[in-house]
Amino acid sequence: MSKIQVAIIGAGPSGLLLSQLLRLQGIESIVLERQTREYVEGRIRAGLLEWSTVDLLNEARVGARMMREGLAHDGLELAFDGRTHRIDLKKLTGHRMMVYGQTEVQKDLGDAHTASGAQIIWEAGNVAIHDITSHRPRVTYTRGAINHEIDCDFIAGCDGFHGISRQSIPKEYVTLHERTYPFGWIGIMANVPPVAGELIYVNHPRGFALCSMRSKSRSRYYLQCSLDDDIANWPDDRFWDELRGRLPNEHAGALITGPSIEKSIAPLRSFVAEPMRFGQLFLVGDAAHILPPTGAKGLNLAAADVRLLSEAILEYYRGGSETLLNDYSKQALARVWKATRFSWWFTALMHKFSDETFAHRIQLAELEYIAGSAAAAESFAENYVGLNFAQRIPRPQGLRLKSSI
Ligand code: APR
Ligand code: PHB
Repeated sequence: MSKIQVAIIGAGPSGLLLSQLLRLQGIESIVLERQTREYVEGRIRAGLLEWSTVDLLNEARVGARMMREGLAHDGLELAFDGRTHRIDLKKLTGHRMMVYGQTEVQKDLGDAHTASGAQIIWEAGNVAIHDITSHRPRVTYTRGAINHEIDCDFIAGCDGFHGISRQSIPKEYVTLHERTYPFGWIGIMANVPPVAGELIYVNHPRGFALCSMRSKSRSRYYLQCSLDDDIANWPDDRFWDELRGRLPNEHAGALITGPSIEKSIAPLRSFVAEPMRFGQLFLVGDAAHILPPTGAKGLNLAAADVRLLSEAILEYYRGGSETLLNDYSKQALARVWKATRFSWWFTALMHKFSDETFAHRIQLAELEYIAGSAAAAESFAENYVGLNFAQRIPRPQGLRLKSSI
């Protein structure tokens, strides 16, 4: 039996960012991950960061490569009805976005852990949580044929949607809210220059499209596809033809195509579990909430949870106060539901749900409204860049993360 302050389940971005921030504050943690490091770092995910996430990654001292290689964007384009409208995020909100792959964030966090010798148990099997309602919760796991037990003060459930943390909460204490969407996204990655300098979100009668990137020489494109579609139905040529067909002429002509280096289909879902705390177990990131990728809020919301929980744990070890810990679920969910609303609304605005022309005309009217109204554009931009922390429910003058060095 080993003893530690915080046991973290899952070495995705939530788990590693939390353990890094706690370590910088002198708080010990251990991370238990059931997969290998290669598997976790090999997953292709989104690549758009709110500036509050950029700040947090820099506070965690894992932002140097991001600041060097990431692309800061001041705006984006909405394309509809054969035309485009630019949303000037910087002018409307004072905030920019950072294009930097989640895969890179994962690697930077992994490297920081290796450099610091922080405890990550890869390929931890049969992770289980015990006594979460006591003040001495325990986590057990196997490594090879050996059983291990950890005694801790807090457990952070950073094990994603399919993890065991949320499922460890007795059903009667957790409420699950879910909305599934009748379509998916097929995404490809290709080493070709992006079609434009900023992201393009496309509403088209044939379905949604998104033009994104990872660098000036690597592009990421998505197309709305049917849920039961199969990658085999999407050879590169068909993908490029369909994308070109959904883009306004000015961009269609500029599209540079090439062989895909990654191609995958993902379903779209909105999911929120309440509360995000049960006893000494705190749910973080995808373990508590899933958003459709329209607006790329998943990683940013996970980072916001991590900031709240790390401040709360810091306050506890620094001053013994449990105020922020007791506030965690309410504070996190306040932001989660706003991001969930925006992602649901943006998905509804940009995707094709049926052949019904009335629905599409309404979407076009709303897009025209956003293009023609500063108030509507500002509301869109404010949600897109991330509702800044000022929107938090007022809190007691708690501790703020300050680098220990
Ligand atoms: N035991 C140990 N580890 C587990 C278990 C388990 N029983 N179940 C899951 N895990 C691990 C997974 O293998 C994964 O590496 O937990 C990790 C969870 O990571 P993510 O799913 O990436 O979740 P999170 O860290 O919250 O990141 C959220 O990821 O999916 C994107 O859009 C999402 O950007 C958001 C971000
Ligand atoms: C991506 O680059 O993968 C991306 C960007 C913006 C989104 C979704 C995904 O809204």
